[in-house]
Amino acid sequence: TECMPPRLFSGSLSFLNETSDTGVNCCETTGSPGRHVICFNIPDVCNTTTLLLSEDGDMLYVGARDAVLALDVSRKDSITLRSKVGKPTLADCPNFIRVLQFLNTSHIYACGTFAFSPRCTYINSETLRMTIKPDEGRGRCPYDPYQRNTAIVVDGELYTGTVADYRGNRPVISRHLSEGRRVDLKLDDTLGWLEDPTFISSSFIPDEEKIYFFFSEVGREYDFIDKFIVSRVSQVCMSDVGGQRTLQRRWTTFAKAQLLCQADNELPYNVIQDIDRLSPAERAPADDTLFYGIFTSQWSVNSGRSAVCSFRQSDIKAVFSGNYKVLNRDTLQWSTRVQEKVANPGECGLHNASDNALRFVKENFLADDSVRPVGRIPIMVSAEHSYSHLTVQRVQAANNRDYTVLFLLTESGYLHKAVLLQSGAHIIEEVQVFEQPQLVKSLKLSISKSVIYVGTSEAVVRVPTANCSFYWTCAQCVLARDPFCGWDPASRACRKVQGGRILSQGTVEVYFTSCPAGELVSVSLNEVVRLQCPAVSRLSQQQWERPNSRLSSDLYLQLGDGSLTFVATPATLGHYLCLSTENDYQQTMAIYHVKQRSSTMTHPVPTTRAVARPGPVLHTSAEFWDGEPLLSAQGPCCLKELVVVSLMLVLCLSLLITMFLFIIRQRCHSRTAPQAETPSGLSERRTPVEQEALRGTQFLSKRNGQVLNSGQASGLVCNRTLMGSNGHLPNTPI
Ligand SMILES: *[C@@H]1O[C@H](CO)[C@@H](O)[C@H](O)[C@H]1NC(C)=O
Ligand SMILES: *[C@@H]1O[C@H](CO)[C@@H](O)[C@H](O)[C@H]1NC(C)=O
Ligand SMILES: *[C@@H]1O[C@H](CO)[C@@H](O)[C@H](O)[C@H]1NC(C)=O
Ligand SMILES: *[C@@H]1O[C@H](CO)[C@@H](O)[C@H](O)[C@H]1NC(C)=O
Repeated sequence: TECMPPRLFSGSLSFLNETSDTGVNCCETTGSPGRHVICFNIPDVCNTTTLLLSEDGDMLYVGARDAVLALDVSRKDSITLRSKVGKPTLADCPNFIRVLQFLNTSHIYACGTFAFSPRCTYINSETLRMTIKPDEGRGRCPYDPYQRNTAIVVDGELYTGTVADYRGNRPVISRHLSEGRRVDLKLDDTLGWLEDPTFISSSFIPDEEKIYFFFSEVGREYDFIDKFIVSRVSQVCMSDVGGQRTLQRRWTTFAKAQLLCQADNELPYNVIQDIDRLSPAERAPADDTLFYGIFTSQWSVNSGRSAVCSFRQSDIKAVFSGNYKVLNRDTLQWSTRVQEKVANPGECGLHNASDNALRFVKENFLADDSVRPVGRIPIMVSAEHSYSHLTVQRVQAANNRDYTVLFLLTESGYLHKAVLLQSGAHIIEEVQVFEQPQLVKSLKLSISKSVIYVGTSEAVVRVPTANCSFYWTCAQCVLARDPFCGWDPASRACRKVQGGRILSQGTVEVYFTSCPAGELVSVSLNEVVRLQCPAVSRLSQQQWERPNSRLSSDLYLQLGDGSLTFVATPATLGHYLCLSTENDYQQTMAIYHVKQRSSTMTHPVPTTRAVARPGPVLHTSAEFWDGEPLLSAQGPCCLKELVVVSLMLVLCLSLLITMFLFIIRQRCHSRTAPQAETPSGLSERRTPVEQEALRGTQFLSKRNGQVLNSGQASGLVCNRTLMGSNGHLPNTPI
């Protein structure tokens, strides 16, 4: 049979029985550090495909094979099964739920394929009880569970796009459950209204009182290519009641247009895969509503690639109110109309129009123009990822600016979070949701709970939209460019941002989006400095830079763990950046400001962490965000001064090197008593256990620039046995 027992649970049945009604973390490894996903599945329920989220985000309704489930998702740490309706049907005649929509405040409308004879039913959303006898589902739900469909309920009326017959060759866009004396409507059987479509989505456009349908179909207007697929947006007006004689019980307001997702001089990404709507920002006109879609290409040169395009509602409107093509019924050729316009196709309120006008709209429903994407090119094109689902959110970042964040699911089971910046789309993070690619049927964003639900054949997986605590330095937090996160200087932690405010502990709300000029590392000249660089993952490569220069291997040593070691000299004081590169994606992991310790300051115990105090704020987050050169706050440079400084530097350096070599010589001779010369004089009073513990914390404290005192420096250089036993530093002499 098709419905296999959930694979993730095989082999642990006792465990299963105990927790059969609570979500457990069945997605054992996600491969993404700092990302914990919760996965819910229950035995005997599979093909969980349709997801419906309650307005408050506390309940998630799941349409599955032979069942509708109500999951309590109000708690952060678990998903609990509240109730379930449905009974197993015969194995070869299953009922796949394909429509799941809130009908009103008390009822859900659900339709299933019901063994190739679709039926719909009313379900009480509290009790999940079916109260009223089922409706026939023809035209509301596909017969074949593999056919894609779309449905939306607006004002208690159901708008659907599906195939209305067993063989799947009568596609139809229709309205059901029409209120009051309004009649149900469907598309006329006229040639060419729909051409073998694959329905993707439908959307309610409140300000226009229209419903948009998104689908792909065969583009017959391109007669030069056999079966050229085009993506479409089509519209119907909610006020439509059909014509009086012509177009009786048929749409009088149906119109369709091509959605173009194409970069210049490239083949179009012509097959729409998914689309999501982004409402305009507060106080912006409704016309600014955007639709973000994933498109793939029908041609093999572009196989495996996908593109994301956005379309503005005003552009769609303009195309629908423009000219229409006309179909020559004899030659079956589309052409641009040259005759006089008798009516405006796509216009609402045509039901009282003359037969002549209605005949005109019946023949003119394909807009002449295509809807082009915002900016005329795709927002992003991915060569290596085939995206299948997306959802979009506007997020107000800590700098009070709005950013658009896209969540894109790849066919191989990764969720990409991308923020749209002026410079283009930037992938903030990649979360591995599944180990194995899975058939994903829906992706649902819960803004109120800040999570994303992924419905697959086998389970429902919940992924938080962000994990700010994963970024543990200010630089990481700000440079990740994750608008969900901001740095809270009070608690020195990366925290979630909500409505532009960083949610701090307690009630304090802070607006802070830039970092001090790196972590401050105070050193004495001649000390050996070690700066740590956290790794993003095992595959990432760390690389150090000083502003506008690479580091010469004569002065700097990059250790295997990514840390940087050097001797503090006037020349090596300043800013350091650690960059991490993985898959061509570079991220700044840490910024340090190495400063000479002021002579009046008492020397802290060298083994304590170098504490960073908030230094002068060098950057605003806007600079970080828009990719401005980092640490550009250096003053202009004058040649004369430069020469003098350089000369002094050379002098200093040679002096220092001589001193350094001298010290090393001395230390190597006094190898048996290396601690005797530590400047603080504290370490010789410690017990060997304390010494070891100190050394441990020192090397484990990755969060700050690590300053080793000269005593340890000597160990590093010549006391190989002493440091080697520690195992943290390679035995490489400087
Ligand atoms: C967030 O990241 C932190 C640090 O890596 C980790 O301990 C925590 O479990 C993560 N939380 C979630 C919900 O992924
Ligand atoms: C139902 O789930 C099974 C197992 O994951 C899968 O093979 C099958 O294609 C699914 N059927 C539908 C109609 O989605
Ligand atoms: C919702 O619709 C159902 C079915 O038409 C009806 O029985 C129920 O009374 C309605 N509930 C409300 C609150 O209007
Ligand atoms: C259409 O015409 C009918 C009568 O012919 C009238 O009652 C109705 O109000 C008209 N509708 C609109 C929207 O004009």
